[in-house]
Amino acid sequence: MQRALRFLLLLFCFTLTIACQRQEKIQKEMPVVKENTNRYSQKVSTLLSQMTLEEKVGQMTQFNGFWDATGPVPKEEDNNWKYDLLAEGKVGSVLNVSGAENVCKMQEVAVNSRLGIPLIFGLDVIHGHKTLSPIPLAESCSWNLELIEKASANAAKEAAARGINWTFAPMVDISRDARWGRVMEGAGEDTFLGCAIAKARVRGFQGNDLSAPHTIASCAKHFAGYGFAEAGRDYNTVDVGTSTLYNVILPPFKACVEADVQTVMNSFNVLNGVAATGDEFLQQEILKGKWDFEGFIISDWGSGKEMIDHGFAEDLEHVAILSANAGSDMDMESYAYTRHLKTAVENGHVKMAVIDEAVGRILTVKEKLGLFDDPFKYCDVAREKEIVNHPSFREDALEIAKESIVLLKNDKKRLPLTKKQQNIAVIGALADDKTSPLGSWRIGSDDGTAVSVLEGLDKLGINYKYAKGATLNTNDPNFIFEIKVNEDDRSEFDAAIDLAKNSEVVIMVLGEHGFQSGEGRSRTRLDLPGVQQELLEKVFEVNPNIVLVTMSGRPLVLDWADKNIPAILHTWQLGSETGNAIASTLFGDNNPSGKLTMTFPRSVGQVPIYYNVYNTGRPGPLTDVVFWSHYIDEENSPLYPFGHGLSYSEFSYSNTQVNSTNQEKIKVSATVTNTSKTGGKEIVQLYIRDKVGRVVRPIKELKGFDKIFLNPGESKEVVFYLTEKELGYFDNNGKFLVEPGDFDVFISGSSTPQDIKSFTIFSDEVSP
Ligand code: NOJ
Repeated sequence: MQRALRFLLLLFCFTLTIACQRQEKIQKEMPVVKENTNRYSQKVSTLLSQMTLEEKVGQMTQFNGFWDATGPVPKEEDNNWKYDLLAEGKVGSVLNVSGAENVCKMQEVAVNSRLGIPLIFGLDVIHGHKTLSPIPLAESCSWNLELIEKASANAAKEAAARGINWTFAPMVDISRDARWGRVMEGAGEDTFLGCAIAKARVRGFQGNDLSAPHTIASCAKHFAGYGFAEAGRDYNTVDVGTSTLYNVILPPFKACVEADVQTVMNSFNVLNGVAATGDEFLQQEILKGKWDFEGFIISDWGSGKEMIDHGFAEDLEHVAILSANAGSDMDMESYAYTRHLKTAVENGHVKMAVIDEAVGRILTVKEKLGLFDDPFKYCDVAREKEIVNHPSFREDALEIAKESIVLLKNDKKRLPLTKKQQNIAVIGALADDKTSPLGSWRIGSDDGTAVSVLEGLDKLGINYKYAKGATLNTNDPNFIFEIKVNEDDRSEFDAAIDLAKNSEVVIMVLGEHGFQSGEGRSRTRLDLPGVQQELLEKVFEVNPNIVLVTMSGRPLVLDWADKNIPAILHTWQLGSETGNAIASTLFGDNNPSGKLTMTFPRSVGQVPIYYNVYNTGRPGPLTDVVFWSHYIDEENSPLYPFGHGLSYSEFSYSNTQVNSTNQEKIKVSATVTNTSKTGGKEIVQLYIRDKVGRVVRPIKELKGFDKIFLNPGESKEVVFYLTEKELGYFDNNGKFLVEPGDFDVFISGSSTPQDIKSFTIFSDEVSP
C-alpha cells in the first residue's frame, strides 16, 4: 500500500515538473505582439470583434481540397468533420480546388456560415496553369524581367479564371546545388538577379490592383534557407553562416516584401537548429518586425507537424503553440491549429493578441482581394471558358521559351542549321514527347499538351527521319510517384545507329524527364539519365556531326559532350511551346540569347559550385606543390560558368570606363558591339569585387545587367550606376554597411572577367 502511495506521489511530482517545464519553456517562447489598434479596416476590425475564438482559429486553418464540390456530399467519410468545419465558418482557406464551378460551390458553403467570411483558394501556380511557360529556372535564363512578369501575369489570369485567387509562388530560394530537385522552381544561384526576378514575378501575379478578377495574391517561399539543404537532398538539414543568411538567402524575400507580396510560406527545414515553422527570429523579428511585412505567413504542407520529427516540438499541441507564437499565421495540413490552438489560448500558452494578429492579417488579404465585396468574383464560368487556354498565352509562352534557351557550345558555327539541310536524323525519346517538356510543378495542366520537338520541326517544314534510340522512363509519369528510368533497354539502339550512319547531321534530344526534378526529386548524379549517354557515344562513333539538344530541370554534367559534340543547345523544360521554340532556334528563326543562372559543373563532385565564391587563403594555382585549394582529379573551374550563353551573333566589349567622382553614384560603362552579320540580343553583365571587408566579400558579384538588341555592326554604350545598395553588404549582425576601400569592376557577357577596372570609396564621403 505504502509502495503504491509512494509511486503515485512520484508520478504526481514528475507530471508537475513536466508541466512546469513546458509552462516555463512556453513563457520564454511568448512573443511580443505589436499593439496597433488602427491597423485594420473597419470591416476587418468589426469581424475581429464578432468572431469567436473557434472561428478565429478556423481562419488560421487551411485544408487540402477535401470536398469534391460537384456532389452534395463529401466524397470520403473521413472528410465529414472538415466539411462541418467549413459550414460552421471554421476554415480560412483551401488548396488544390480549382475550376470556377467547384470553387463557387465551396465558397457558397463558406459564405453561408454565421459570419459569411469567404475562403481564399490557394494553388501552386508556378509556371502557368493550363498554358505553361518554361520552368522558372529556364525563364530566369532569359534575364528578361518584362517577359517574366508577363508570364506570371498570364498564369494569374488563367488561374484566376479557374477560381484561384492565391498562388504559392514565387519560390525565391537561392540554391547552389544542382542535386536539389527544386532548383527548377527558382531563379538560380544569384541573389542580385534573384531579387529582380522575384519582384517581377510578384508584380506579374498581383498586378497593380489585387482586387481585379484577373490578379491573384502571391507567396514568397520558403522562408528560409530551404535551397541550402545539405547534400542537395530535399527536406534535409540547413546549416548556414550568418553572412550567407543575410547576404544570399534573405534578400529575395525582402525584395518580395518591397513588391508588396501578400503572403510568405515558411519552410520544412531546420535552419541552424531551429525549425523554420517555429522560428520566431525569422518570422517575428525579421519578416514582420524589421521588414514590416503586413501580409500573412502560411506554413508549408505539414511543416508544423514535422517539427515533432525534427525534435523541435513534443507533440501536436506543442506544434500549435510554437508555430502560432513564432508568427506562422495559417496552418497548411498539420491540423495543429484546428485541434489544439483553442485550448492553447485557454491555457494561456498563446495570447489572444497573437490570434487576433494572425486573423487580422488573413482577413486583410481577403479584403484586398475584394472577396468581401464579391466572394464569387473568381467564379465566372463564362470567363473561364473565354480565358483558359487563350491563344495569346501560347504566343507569350513561345516568346519567353525562345529567350530561355541557352546555347552552350557552337564550334565552327555548327548552328543554326539551314532549312535546306538534307538527310537529318532526329534521335531521342524526348524529341517525341508531349508531356515531359512541360516540366515539374504543373498542377492544373494536362499531360500531352506540349508541342513536341518533332511537331516543331514539322511546323517549320523540315524533312527528317526519327528514331527513339533509348527509352527514358518505363512507368507513367505522375506528380507524386518515382520516375523509373530505364537503365538497360538498348533494344532501339541499332535502329538509331543505322539512321545516324545514313544521315548528314544528327539532332539528338536527350536529358531528364520532366518529373526527374521538382519536389522530392534530388539526384546524386547529374549525367544524362539511363542509357542516353551510352547512346550518344555510340551514335558519335558512326556520325560525329551531332547537334545535341539537352532538356533538364537542373544543370547537368556534360563534360563528355563538351569535349566531343560540336553544338550543344540547353533547353531546360520550356513548357507548352517547347517544340516550336527549339525548332525555330535550331534553324535560325530564333537567335538564342539566354545565359545560365546556375553554374554547370564538370563533375558532380564539384557541387555545390557557384560563381560568387570567396577567394580562400590559398587560391593558387601552384604548379609544384599540392598545398592550395583544389582537387587532385578535377579542375576548380566549372564547365560553363554563371552568365554563360552564346548567340548566333558575336559581341565584343571595349572601352570600360569608371567615373567615381560622384561617390554616391559611381558610373560604369562599356561599349558593346555586334561584330557579326546577324542581329541579336546580348545580356550585358556588371560584376564588382569589394577587395577587403570586415566580413570577406566574394571574388565577383553581379550588380547590374541589361539585355540589349544590336543590329549587325551596331555598337551601344551600356551604362550602369553603382549606389550604396550595390556596394554594401550585411555584416554578421545583419547590419547593412558600405565600407571604404578599393573595388574592382568589370562588364562582360558572362561572369568570366575581362578588362577589370578599379575605383576607391573614400570613408568621409559615404554613409555607413
Ligand atoms: C509543399 C511545397 O514545399 C510547397 O512549395 C507547396 O506550395 C505546398 N506543398 C503546397 O502544394
